[in-house]
Amino acid sequence: MRVLVTGGAGYIGSHTLLELMAQGHDVCVLDNYSNATPEVLNRVRGLSNGNVTDFTGDVRDPAILNRVMQDFRPEAVIHFAGLKAVGESEEKPLLYYDVNVGGTLALLHAMDRVGCKNIIFSSSATVYGEPVYLPYDEAHPTAPMSVYGQSKLMAENILTNWAKATAGTSAVLLRYFNPVGAHHSAKIGEDPKDIPNNLMPFIAQVAVGKRDALTVFGEDYDTPDGTGLRDYIHVVDLARAHVAAINYADKSTGARPFNIGTGQSYSVRDMVAAFERACGSPIKTKQAPRRAGDIAAMQADASRAAAELGWTAEHGLDDMTASTWAWQSANPNGYDN
Ligand SMILES: NC(=O)c1ccc[n+]([C@@H]2O[C@H](COP(=O)([O-])OP(=O)(O)OC[C@H]3O[C@@H](n4cnc5c(N)ncnc54)[C@H](O)[C@@H]3O)[C@@H](O)[C@H]2O)c1
Repeated sequence: MRVLVTGGAGYIGSHTLLELMAQGHDVCVLDNYSNATPEVLNRVRGLSNGNVTDFTGDVRDPAILNRVMQDFRPEAVIHFAGLKAVGESEEKPLLYYDVNVGGTLALLHAMDRVGCKNIIFSSSATVYGEPVYLPYDEAHPTAPMSVYGQSKLMAENILTNWAKATAGTSAVLLRYFNPVGAHHSAKIGEDPKDIPNNLMPFIAQVAVGKRDALTVFGEDYDTPDGTGLRDYIHVVDLARAHVAAINYADKSTGARPFNIGTGQSYSVRDMVAAFERACGSPIKTKQAPRRAGDIAAMQADASRAAAELGWTAEHGLDDMTASTWAWQSANPNGYDN
């Protein structure tokens, strides 16, 4: 199938390109490189020995979208392009709504103009907000606690309305839990431009000597060791969920959300200990108070994805930390080597 991948040069997008190509799909990337570098696509081409068509541009721009749609004629779109920093979203709400909601709208208009009917959307477990019960299933109430989460939920609602109103269309809403890890080649991985917002890249940068210590925000949660519990998902498993979703979209109509997680959760302390095993040296930590908006624990019920997409996570915790360490130690400065 011809698959347009917006934000395909990013962390999850680049891993997904490889999995799509391994299954024989033709891929095309639209990225504005606001949080990526074209070097990513060179590495994907090298690893796959395949062709990646690419366009540089903004997903909100109808002119570039029309060109991509007319030149590549996608049969499905995977929509990764977006902004993802929760803290920044509170400071720049209009930017987040513009890119995450406006970008989705512009993309749907462009798909309609060429009759492209299938879309896979990068949503997030953050749409659920404070847990009413755990594990979260897809019927859990949605009450996002940040502008970022609101922007994802708004985009989900737009996609749901579009799929209902437009005959023969399918919108697969993938609610990711916490993506971590890197490709086994250690050639592609997560490369945050500034101070990492997420735990794993921060630990990795401490391990490689780029940062002094990991700040642990809150050790007084109601969890076994007092630190927050999260459901971490290996990025290669997550990438494969997109391939499964493409196949599902081809045979279904309407919009449907799916949790993409492992169903297991690990604490900050568990992650630090696992990373120490992977890299063979201690990770320095320091304590800080809880951050506003952080919840104690979250975990996916991923049984719908297993039953309907035929997808389950295969990689465990040690694969997550070992692959992160392999990538970070081979590329201490990310793609800027
Ligand atoms: N990584 C996570 O923890 C996580 C969790 C849940 C959901 N998500 C969502 O998954 C998607 C991909 O996340 P990621 O971790 O790979 O992030 P990323 O920043 O690595 O990838 C996003 C890509 O989109 C591009 N982009 C951003 N704005 C654009 C625009 N206006 N036009 C064109 N390209 C644009 C960036 O340059 C980047 O290559 C995002 O939508 C994110 O919100 C990520």
